[in-house]
Amino acid sequence: MTQRIVSGAPHEFDHSLDTSLRPRRIVDYIGQNAIKNLLAISIQAAQQRSEPLDHVLLYGPPGLGKTTLANIMAFEMGVNIKTTSGPAIERPGDMVATLTQMQEGDILFIDEIHRLSRVVEEVLYPAMEDYFVSWVIDKGLKARSMNLSIKPFTLIGATTRYGMLSPPLRDRFGNIHRLDFYDEDAMATIVERSARILEIEAEPEGVTEIARRARGTPRIANRLLRRVRDYAQVIGDGIITAKLAREALKQLEVDERGLDGTDRRMMLSIIEKFAGGPVGLDTIAASISEDSDTIEDVYEPFLLQLGFLDKTPRGRVATRRAYDHLGYDYTKDNPNSPQANLF
Ligand code: ADE
Repeated sequence: MTQRIVSGAPHEFDHSLDTSLRPRRIVDYIGQNAIKNLLAISIQAAQQRSEPLDHVLLYGPPGLGKTTLANIMAFEMGVNIKTTSGPAIERPGDMVATLTQMQEGDILFIDEIHRLSRVVEEVLYPAMEDYFVSWVIDKGLKARSMNLSIKPFTLIGATTRYGMLSPPLRDRFGNIHRLDFYDEDAMATIVERSARILEIEAEPEGVTEIARRARGTPRIANRLLRRVRDYAQVIGDGIITAKLAREALKQLEVDERGLDGTDRRMMLSIIEKFAGGPVGLDTIAASISEDSDTIEDVYEPFLLQLGFLDKTPRGRVATRRAYDHLGYDYTKDNPNSPQANLF
């Protein structure tokens, strides 16, 4: 499967890039100031009391730095971090094994925590609350459960879907933080920092051009930066100027607002096939041959944030802004809108 350059989900080749660019310390982490301040306080307080950190839940669209923050917390606390994901823990026994191997204060990071099965999730409840796990031994009439105590640890959960988390699990997190898309200033600072680390020569206007089109998502910014660098090296003289960045991004089909071909297909489908909506998520998904979950996790949050899309009880609606951006006449599909009467 080809991967969209502006998808927040990790690409295969992102890994080494992500690690070299990932800030290790909280002071090097750009943006998300409110969360950063709260976490810094939690870290300091836990250290003063010589206790593990409270369990933390991080949620928000992919690519905004949830894993990075988890690693920073481990680094700042001076503890080990074990990283896994919801779908990777298939059986309750796997969860028990992982938990019993944790050292005091260690962090267990579970990405896509909303994808844990219910039986695996149930192992976590007493572990999070009272640091023990229940383990059923034997079968049939002889079956009995045994409680094993585990070392006090910190669970950091990450999810793109807060709503899909079961309430009992949600309630067991002491800190719940929502990561938001980064603003343009923070994005520019992130691109600048990455260019410096990767020793890429970029003019400030070139940096801004990339930052503006990266959907408020550092992972996308870093990916675009690398592709634009290739372009600069082969087509230009190696320096990322605004003009060169614009050319490169045009070739990559990333427009001025960061929309790619798939976003545009989705918006065009709503406008052209469904007169701007409202139209249901599954209908949109079928019309552009995409997966509903991917649309909901990856595409929609950004289109909503841009104000191109509205979610209504009757379905998704393309806004006037989307019509304008894509060069369509809003009043044609919305003859009764207040704006229509102005003309
Ligand atoms: N790289 C990815 N996300 C970052 C962030 N928030 N700050 C600094 N560098 C980053």
